[in-house]
Amino acid sequence: MSKIKNIAVLTSGGDAPGMNAAIRAVVRTGIYYNLNVFGIRRGYDGMVSGDIISMDAKSVANIIQRGGTILKTARSDEFRTIEGRQKAYENLRKHEIDALVVIGGDGTFTGASKFIEEFDFPVMGLPGTIDNDLLGTDFTIGYDTAINTVVDAVDKIRDTAESHDRLFVIEVMGRDSGLIALRSGISTGAEAVLIPEIKVDYDAIMTRLDKTRKNKASRIIIVAEGDQEGGMVVADKIKESFPSYDVRLSILGHIQRGGSPTCMDRVLASRVGVGAVEGLIEGRRGEMVGLIHGEVKYTPFSKAIKHIDKIDDNLTRIVEILSL
Ligand code: F6P
Repeated sequence: MSKIKNIAVLTSGGDAPGMNAAIRAVVRTGIYYNLNVFGIRRGYDGMVSGDIISMDAKSVANIIQRGGTILKTARSDEFRTIEGRQKAYENLRKHEIDALVVIGGDGTFTGASKFIEEFDFPVMGLPGTIDNDLLGTDFTIGYDTAINTVVDAVDKIRDTAESHDRLFVIEVMGRDSGLIALRSGISTGAEAVLIPEIKVDYDAIMTRLDKTRKNKASRIIIVAEGDQEGGMVVADKIKESFPSYDVRLSILGHIQRGGSPTCMDRVLASRVGVGAVEGLIEGRRGEMVGLIHGEVKYTPFSKAIKHIDKIDDNLTRIVEILSL
C-alpha cells in the first residue's frame, strides 16, 4: 500500500459529457479513503500556472447531471515543454500533492506519460472523450451522450429530408475516429457512413444510392469530420453525380460535446472514478481505468492511446445490408 495523502484531479483536452460525474467520483472516493483532494483548473495549463483549489464533498454536489467540466479544460502548449512540466511539478509539490488523476483522451495521457517518466509521479487516467477512440475500455465517458445527441439531431433532419425528398450529408465529430459516425449511422438508418478508417469508395456509394433510389424519399449520409474529405466535399461529389438530387449539408459541430450525460455515461464515470483512486491507493500508476465487458480494467497509457484503426467489420456490414 502506498502512503498517498493528497491527490489532485484535472480535466484536459476536449470536454465530454460525464466529466463532472467523473470529477465527483474522484473527489468523493478520495474523501471516503481520508485523502485530501485538490482540483486543478484548465487542465495542464492550470498545473503549470498553479491554478489549484481545495475540493470537498460539497464542491461536487449537484454536478453529476451537468455537461461540460466544472474544472474547465484546455489543450496546453506549455505542458508540452520540459520547462512547463517542471513548473507543473513544482506546483504539485507546493501543495504536497502526491498523486494525480487526469480525465481526457490520448493527448492527456501522452502528457501524463511524459510527466511520469520525468518526475516519477503517480498518475492515473480516466477515458474522457466523445470520440471513443481509446483502447482498454469498451466506451469512453461522453461517447454515449454524444451519439444520442447525434441520433436526436439526425432524426429531426430525417423529418424535413423526407418531406422535401432531399438527401442530407451530415458531418459529425471524430477527428481521427469514425466511431461516432458508425454507431449513429446504424441507429438512424443512414444510407451510407463515411469514416477516416476506411478509404471512401465513391463508385460503390453512388451505385448504391442509384439502386435504392426508388425505395426512398429521404437519404442520410453520415460523414465523420476526420474523413478524408469532410462533409462539404462529399455533398459536392454527390451533387455532381446526381444533379437531380436535392442535396443539403448539415454540420452538427460542438452540439455533440454538450448536454446532460446519459445514465450510461454517469455510471461509467462513477465506476472508473472510484477505480482510479482505489488504483492509486493500491500503488498503481501510468494506467487508464476503463470498463471492459462490465468490469473495471487497468490499461497502461502507452497501450490506451494506440488508435483503434481496425473497425468492427460487422458494424460497417450492417450499414450496407440495411440500407436497401
Ligand atoms: O476530441 C474530441 C473532439 O470533439 C473531436 O471529435 C474533434 O475533432 C475535436 O475534439 C474538436 O476540438 P476543438 O473543440 O478544439 O475544435
